Amino acid sequence: MWWRDAVVYQIYPRSFQDSDGDGIGDLRGIAQRLDHLVYLGVDAFWLSPIYPSPLADFGYDVSDYTNVDPVFGSLEDLDTLVRAAHERGLRILLDLVPSHTSIEHPWFREHLDWYIWSPVDGPPNNWRSAFGGSAWSRDERSGRWYLHTFYPEQPDLDWRNPEVVAAMQDVVRFWLGRGVDGFRVDALTAIVKDAELRDDLPATGMFALPSTGEFGELEHIYSSNRPEAVEALAALREAAGDALLIGEVYLGTAEYARWLEHLDLVFAFELLFAPWKAEALRAAIAPAAELGRVAWVLSNHDFDRLATRLGEANVRAAAELLLTLPGAAFIYQGDEIGLPNGPGSDPQFDRHGRDRLRHPMQWDASRTGGFTTGEPWLQPIDAEKRNVEAQRADPGSLLNHYRRLIQSRRELGSHFRLLDSPPGTLCYERNGHVVTIEAG
Ligand code: GLC
Repeated sequence: MWWRDAVVYQIYPRSFQDSDGDGIGDLRGIAQRLDHLVYLGVDAFWLSPIYPSPLADFGYDVSDYTNVDPVFGSLEDLDTLVRAAHERGLRILLDLVPSHTSIEHPWFREHLDWYIWSPVDGPPNNWRSAFGGSAWSRDERSGRWYLHTFYPEQPDLDWRNPEVVAAMQDVVRFWLGRGVDGFRVDALTAIVKDAELRDDLPATGMFALPSTGEFGELEHIYSSNRPEAVEALAALREAAGDALLIGEVYLGTAEYARWLEHLDLVFAFELLFAPWKAEALRAAIAPAAELGRVAWVLSNHDFDRLATRLGEANVRAAAELLLTLPGAAFIYQGDEIGLPNGPGSDPQFDRHGRDRLRHPMQWDASRTGGFTTGEPWLQPIDAEKRNVEAQRADPGSLLNHYRRLIQSRRELGSHFRLLDSPPGTLCYERNGHVVTIEAG
């Protein structure tokens, strides 16, 4: 299995490299920068959504699953990128968004029964949207109320309808036919809901991950994490064959086993949220390592950037941790040069405040950081002081630290054992090598 110990690099396509001067990253831009991935030594990259989208949720509201948004290029550009990646020994993963479409997807007009509707004239239960407010909105056209786990512009598909299952299987086959190597599967916990739409219960405070606002006041036992989801996953697996399926399953480690029946990997989110304290890291790592088949991840396009969350003083140790744990590891673009959160933009693009995590890659010290010859959709943060070119030239840079860690991973084998160590340190053994991380 190529992915077992793979290092996967997450590309946020709007912000990686622009090739045509419109200030927005694109597929040709990514192809131009593949050598950065080769330099780092990663095995694969994952592209956040590249499909046509009205951008209510920046690509996670898909209006056509089997096409490329013109802002990113064309299907031919994707084919070229796949070929260019494979020639360099890199695998490519797309983002599959199976749980909801954009409200502008033709399905929402042509196949009303592919979505989840309230049986009454109003919300039938207390379910909350992850972004706040009721999870139910009224569709002006039909006058009926539909379910949306995220923004109202993202109606949830009804995976209990076999036509939905078949349509999404076709999507999977379409991209595999074009040569992609697998998928990061978005927002899986809510793929199937309770058939009776029962009320969620008040939160017990036991949920293992951050869950804030009104959403956090409920225990989402009916609107998400349903045992029936296993059937949806089996259908995705059937279409995917042995392509990699890594799930975004926003739950604590204790809940993962069921999801791993058909997925290859799930993100180890408890580690992403663990405070930089040896005891907390150990508590997050031990059960996930025991379970195996987790992908370690310390940041992505949804949560504070690594350098901001842990502080610059800890970014090197964080890289050591991420890249010496047993199994697959994901790096979010920019973390390898220590990019912090940026200021975002005003007015903001993402209503949920995530622009700050999505500023462009900084390739060189020029005004736009080498990201574009035009006006960047989000400004670079500090390209003059922090950029790939300068860090490549400096053997002691964070970038070269990542590179060396990735090179030396091959020696680590599969063996992993946590060791006792003094307070403030986390210590483990990998194939005769002892790793000590200072945290606390
Ligand atoms: C996932 C994505 C996030 C998106 C959400 C809804 O959590 O990572 O960016 O907003 O799903 O699709």
